[in-house]
Amino acid sequence: MPENFPFPMPFGWFGVARVDEVPEGAVVALERFGHKLVAWRDGDDHHVAGAICPHMGAHLGVGGRVEDGCLVCPFHEWAFGPDGTNTDIPYADKPNRKARLTMWRTAVANGLLMVWYHPDPSVEPTYEVPHLVPEGATETGRFDRVVRTQWQEIAENGVDMAHFKSVHGAGRVSTVGEQVFDGPFRTVQSDQTFGSSKGELPAHLNNSTLGPGIGVQRFTMLDATVISVSSTTAIDPHTCLQTFTFYSDGSVIADKIAPSFALEVERQFDQDIPIWENKEFLAVPALAPSEKPLMDFRKWAAQFYVGAPSA
Ligand code: FES
Ligand SMILES: [Fe+2]
Repeated sequence: MPENFPFPMPFGWFGVARVDEVPEGAVVALERFGHKLVAWRDGDDHHVAGAICPHMGAHLGVGGRVEDGCLVCPFHEWAFGPDGTNTDIPYADKPNRKARLTMWRTAVANGLLMVWYHPDPSVEPTYEVPHLVPEGATETGRFDRVVRTQWQEIAENGVDMAHFKSVHGAGRVSTVGEQVFDGPFRTVQSDQTFGSSKGELPAHLNNSTLGPGIGVQRFTMLDATVISVSSTTAIDPHTCLQTFTFYSDGSVIADKIAPSFALEVERQFDQDIPIWENKEFLAVPALAPSEKPLMDFRKWAAQFYVGAPSA
């Protein structure tokens, strides 16, 4: 556990890659939750497994290949089926029943290939991630960052209204929209303005947090909607991978504003990184009266930790 953050890695559904980053036929090495993982795809079936071959320890994601739906190790070409069992040893009459890959539960939603992470692998998923990116939305851009911090510090930023002025240069400190908590989900609606060549235009932001690693933000103005999908996944207890993917609803206006929306999110994210990487998590922060939503957020976030001190 990092010294400046008291909680372990949270449990839940996390994006380990965008779906299109693990195309058919590819074998992709990933490092997530302090584990070496390998991902591959067989038609509509997405697989993520522990990457170390139980035969003699080769990394299956470095030189491995998919053959007849099985993952073949680059070292001695043992093959493993989608359930992790060894299906073939090229120089033996039968497979080794004890040689098994550890399979991770996978699901796909909102353009993300997700896995269920829990420190106790026998714990089944406690929720499902809803699909909030509509069919027909078109991607307009993406960016990724590796940040030396934890999910909660990044997510907390959204209810820390004062920093939007001091760090990001917003014109005023606005108030947090009402946070609606619903089990592992959280929604915040807020009225915004969008600076255009015709002056400030009214806009609306619907920010849905889907467990501890995934958020879908829907920004609507003039009946057009731009969507961003954010994913924060621990690489290890000290570091996380943040990805953003932006979509337009296909309307002319959304296509037009989506690139500047994406650039603004990227600019703000980069401004926050040095703060996150050097701050400490204060369990009892000295807050101004308007900052109560921060503690509401923390109470909600506490449900995703096993064995953590309460927030
Ligand atoms: S190490 Fe994988 S087949 Fe030998
Ligand atoms: Fe920020």
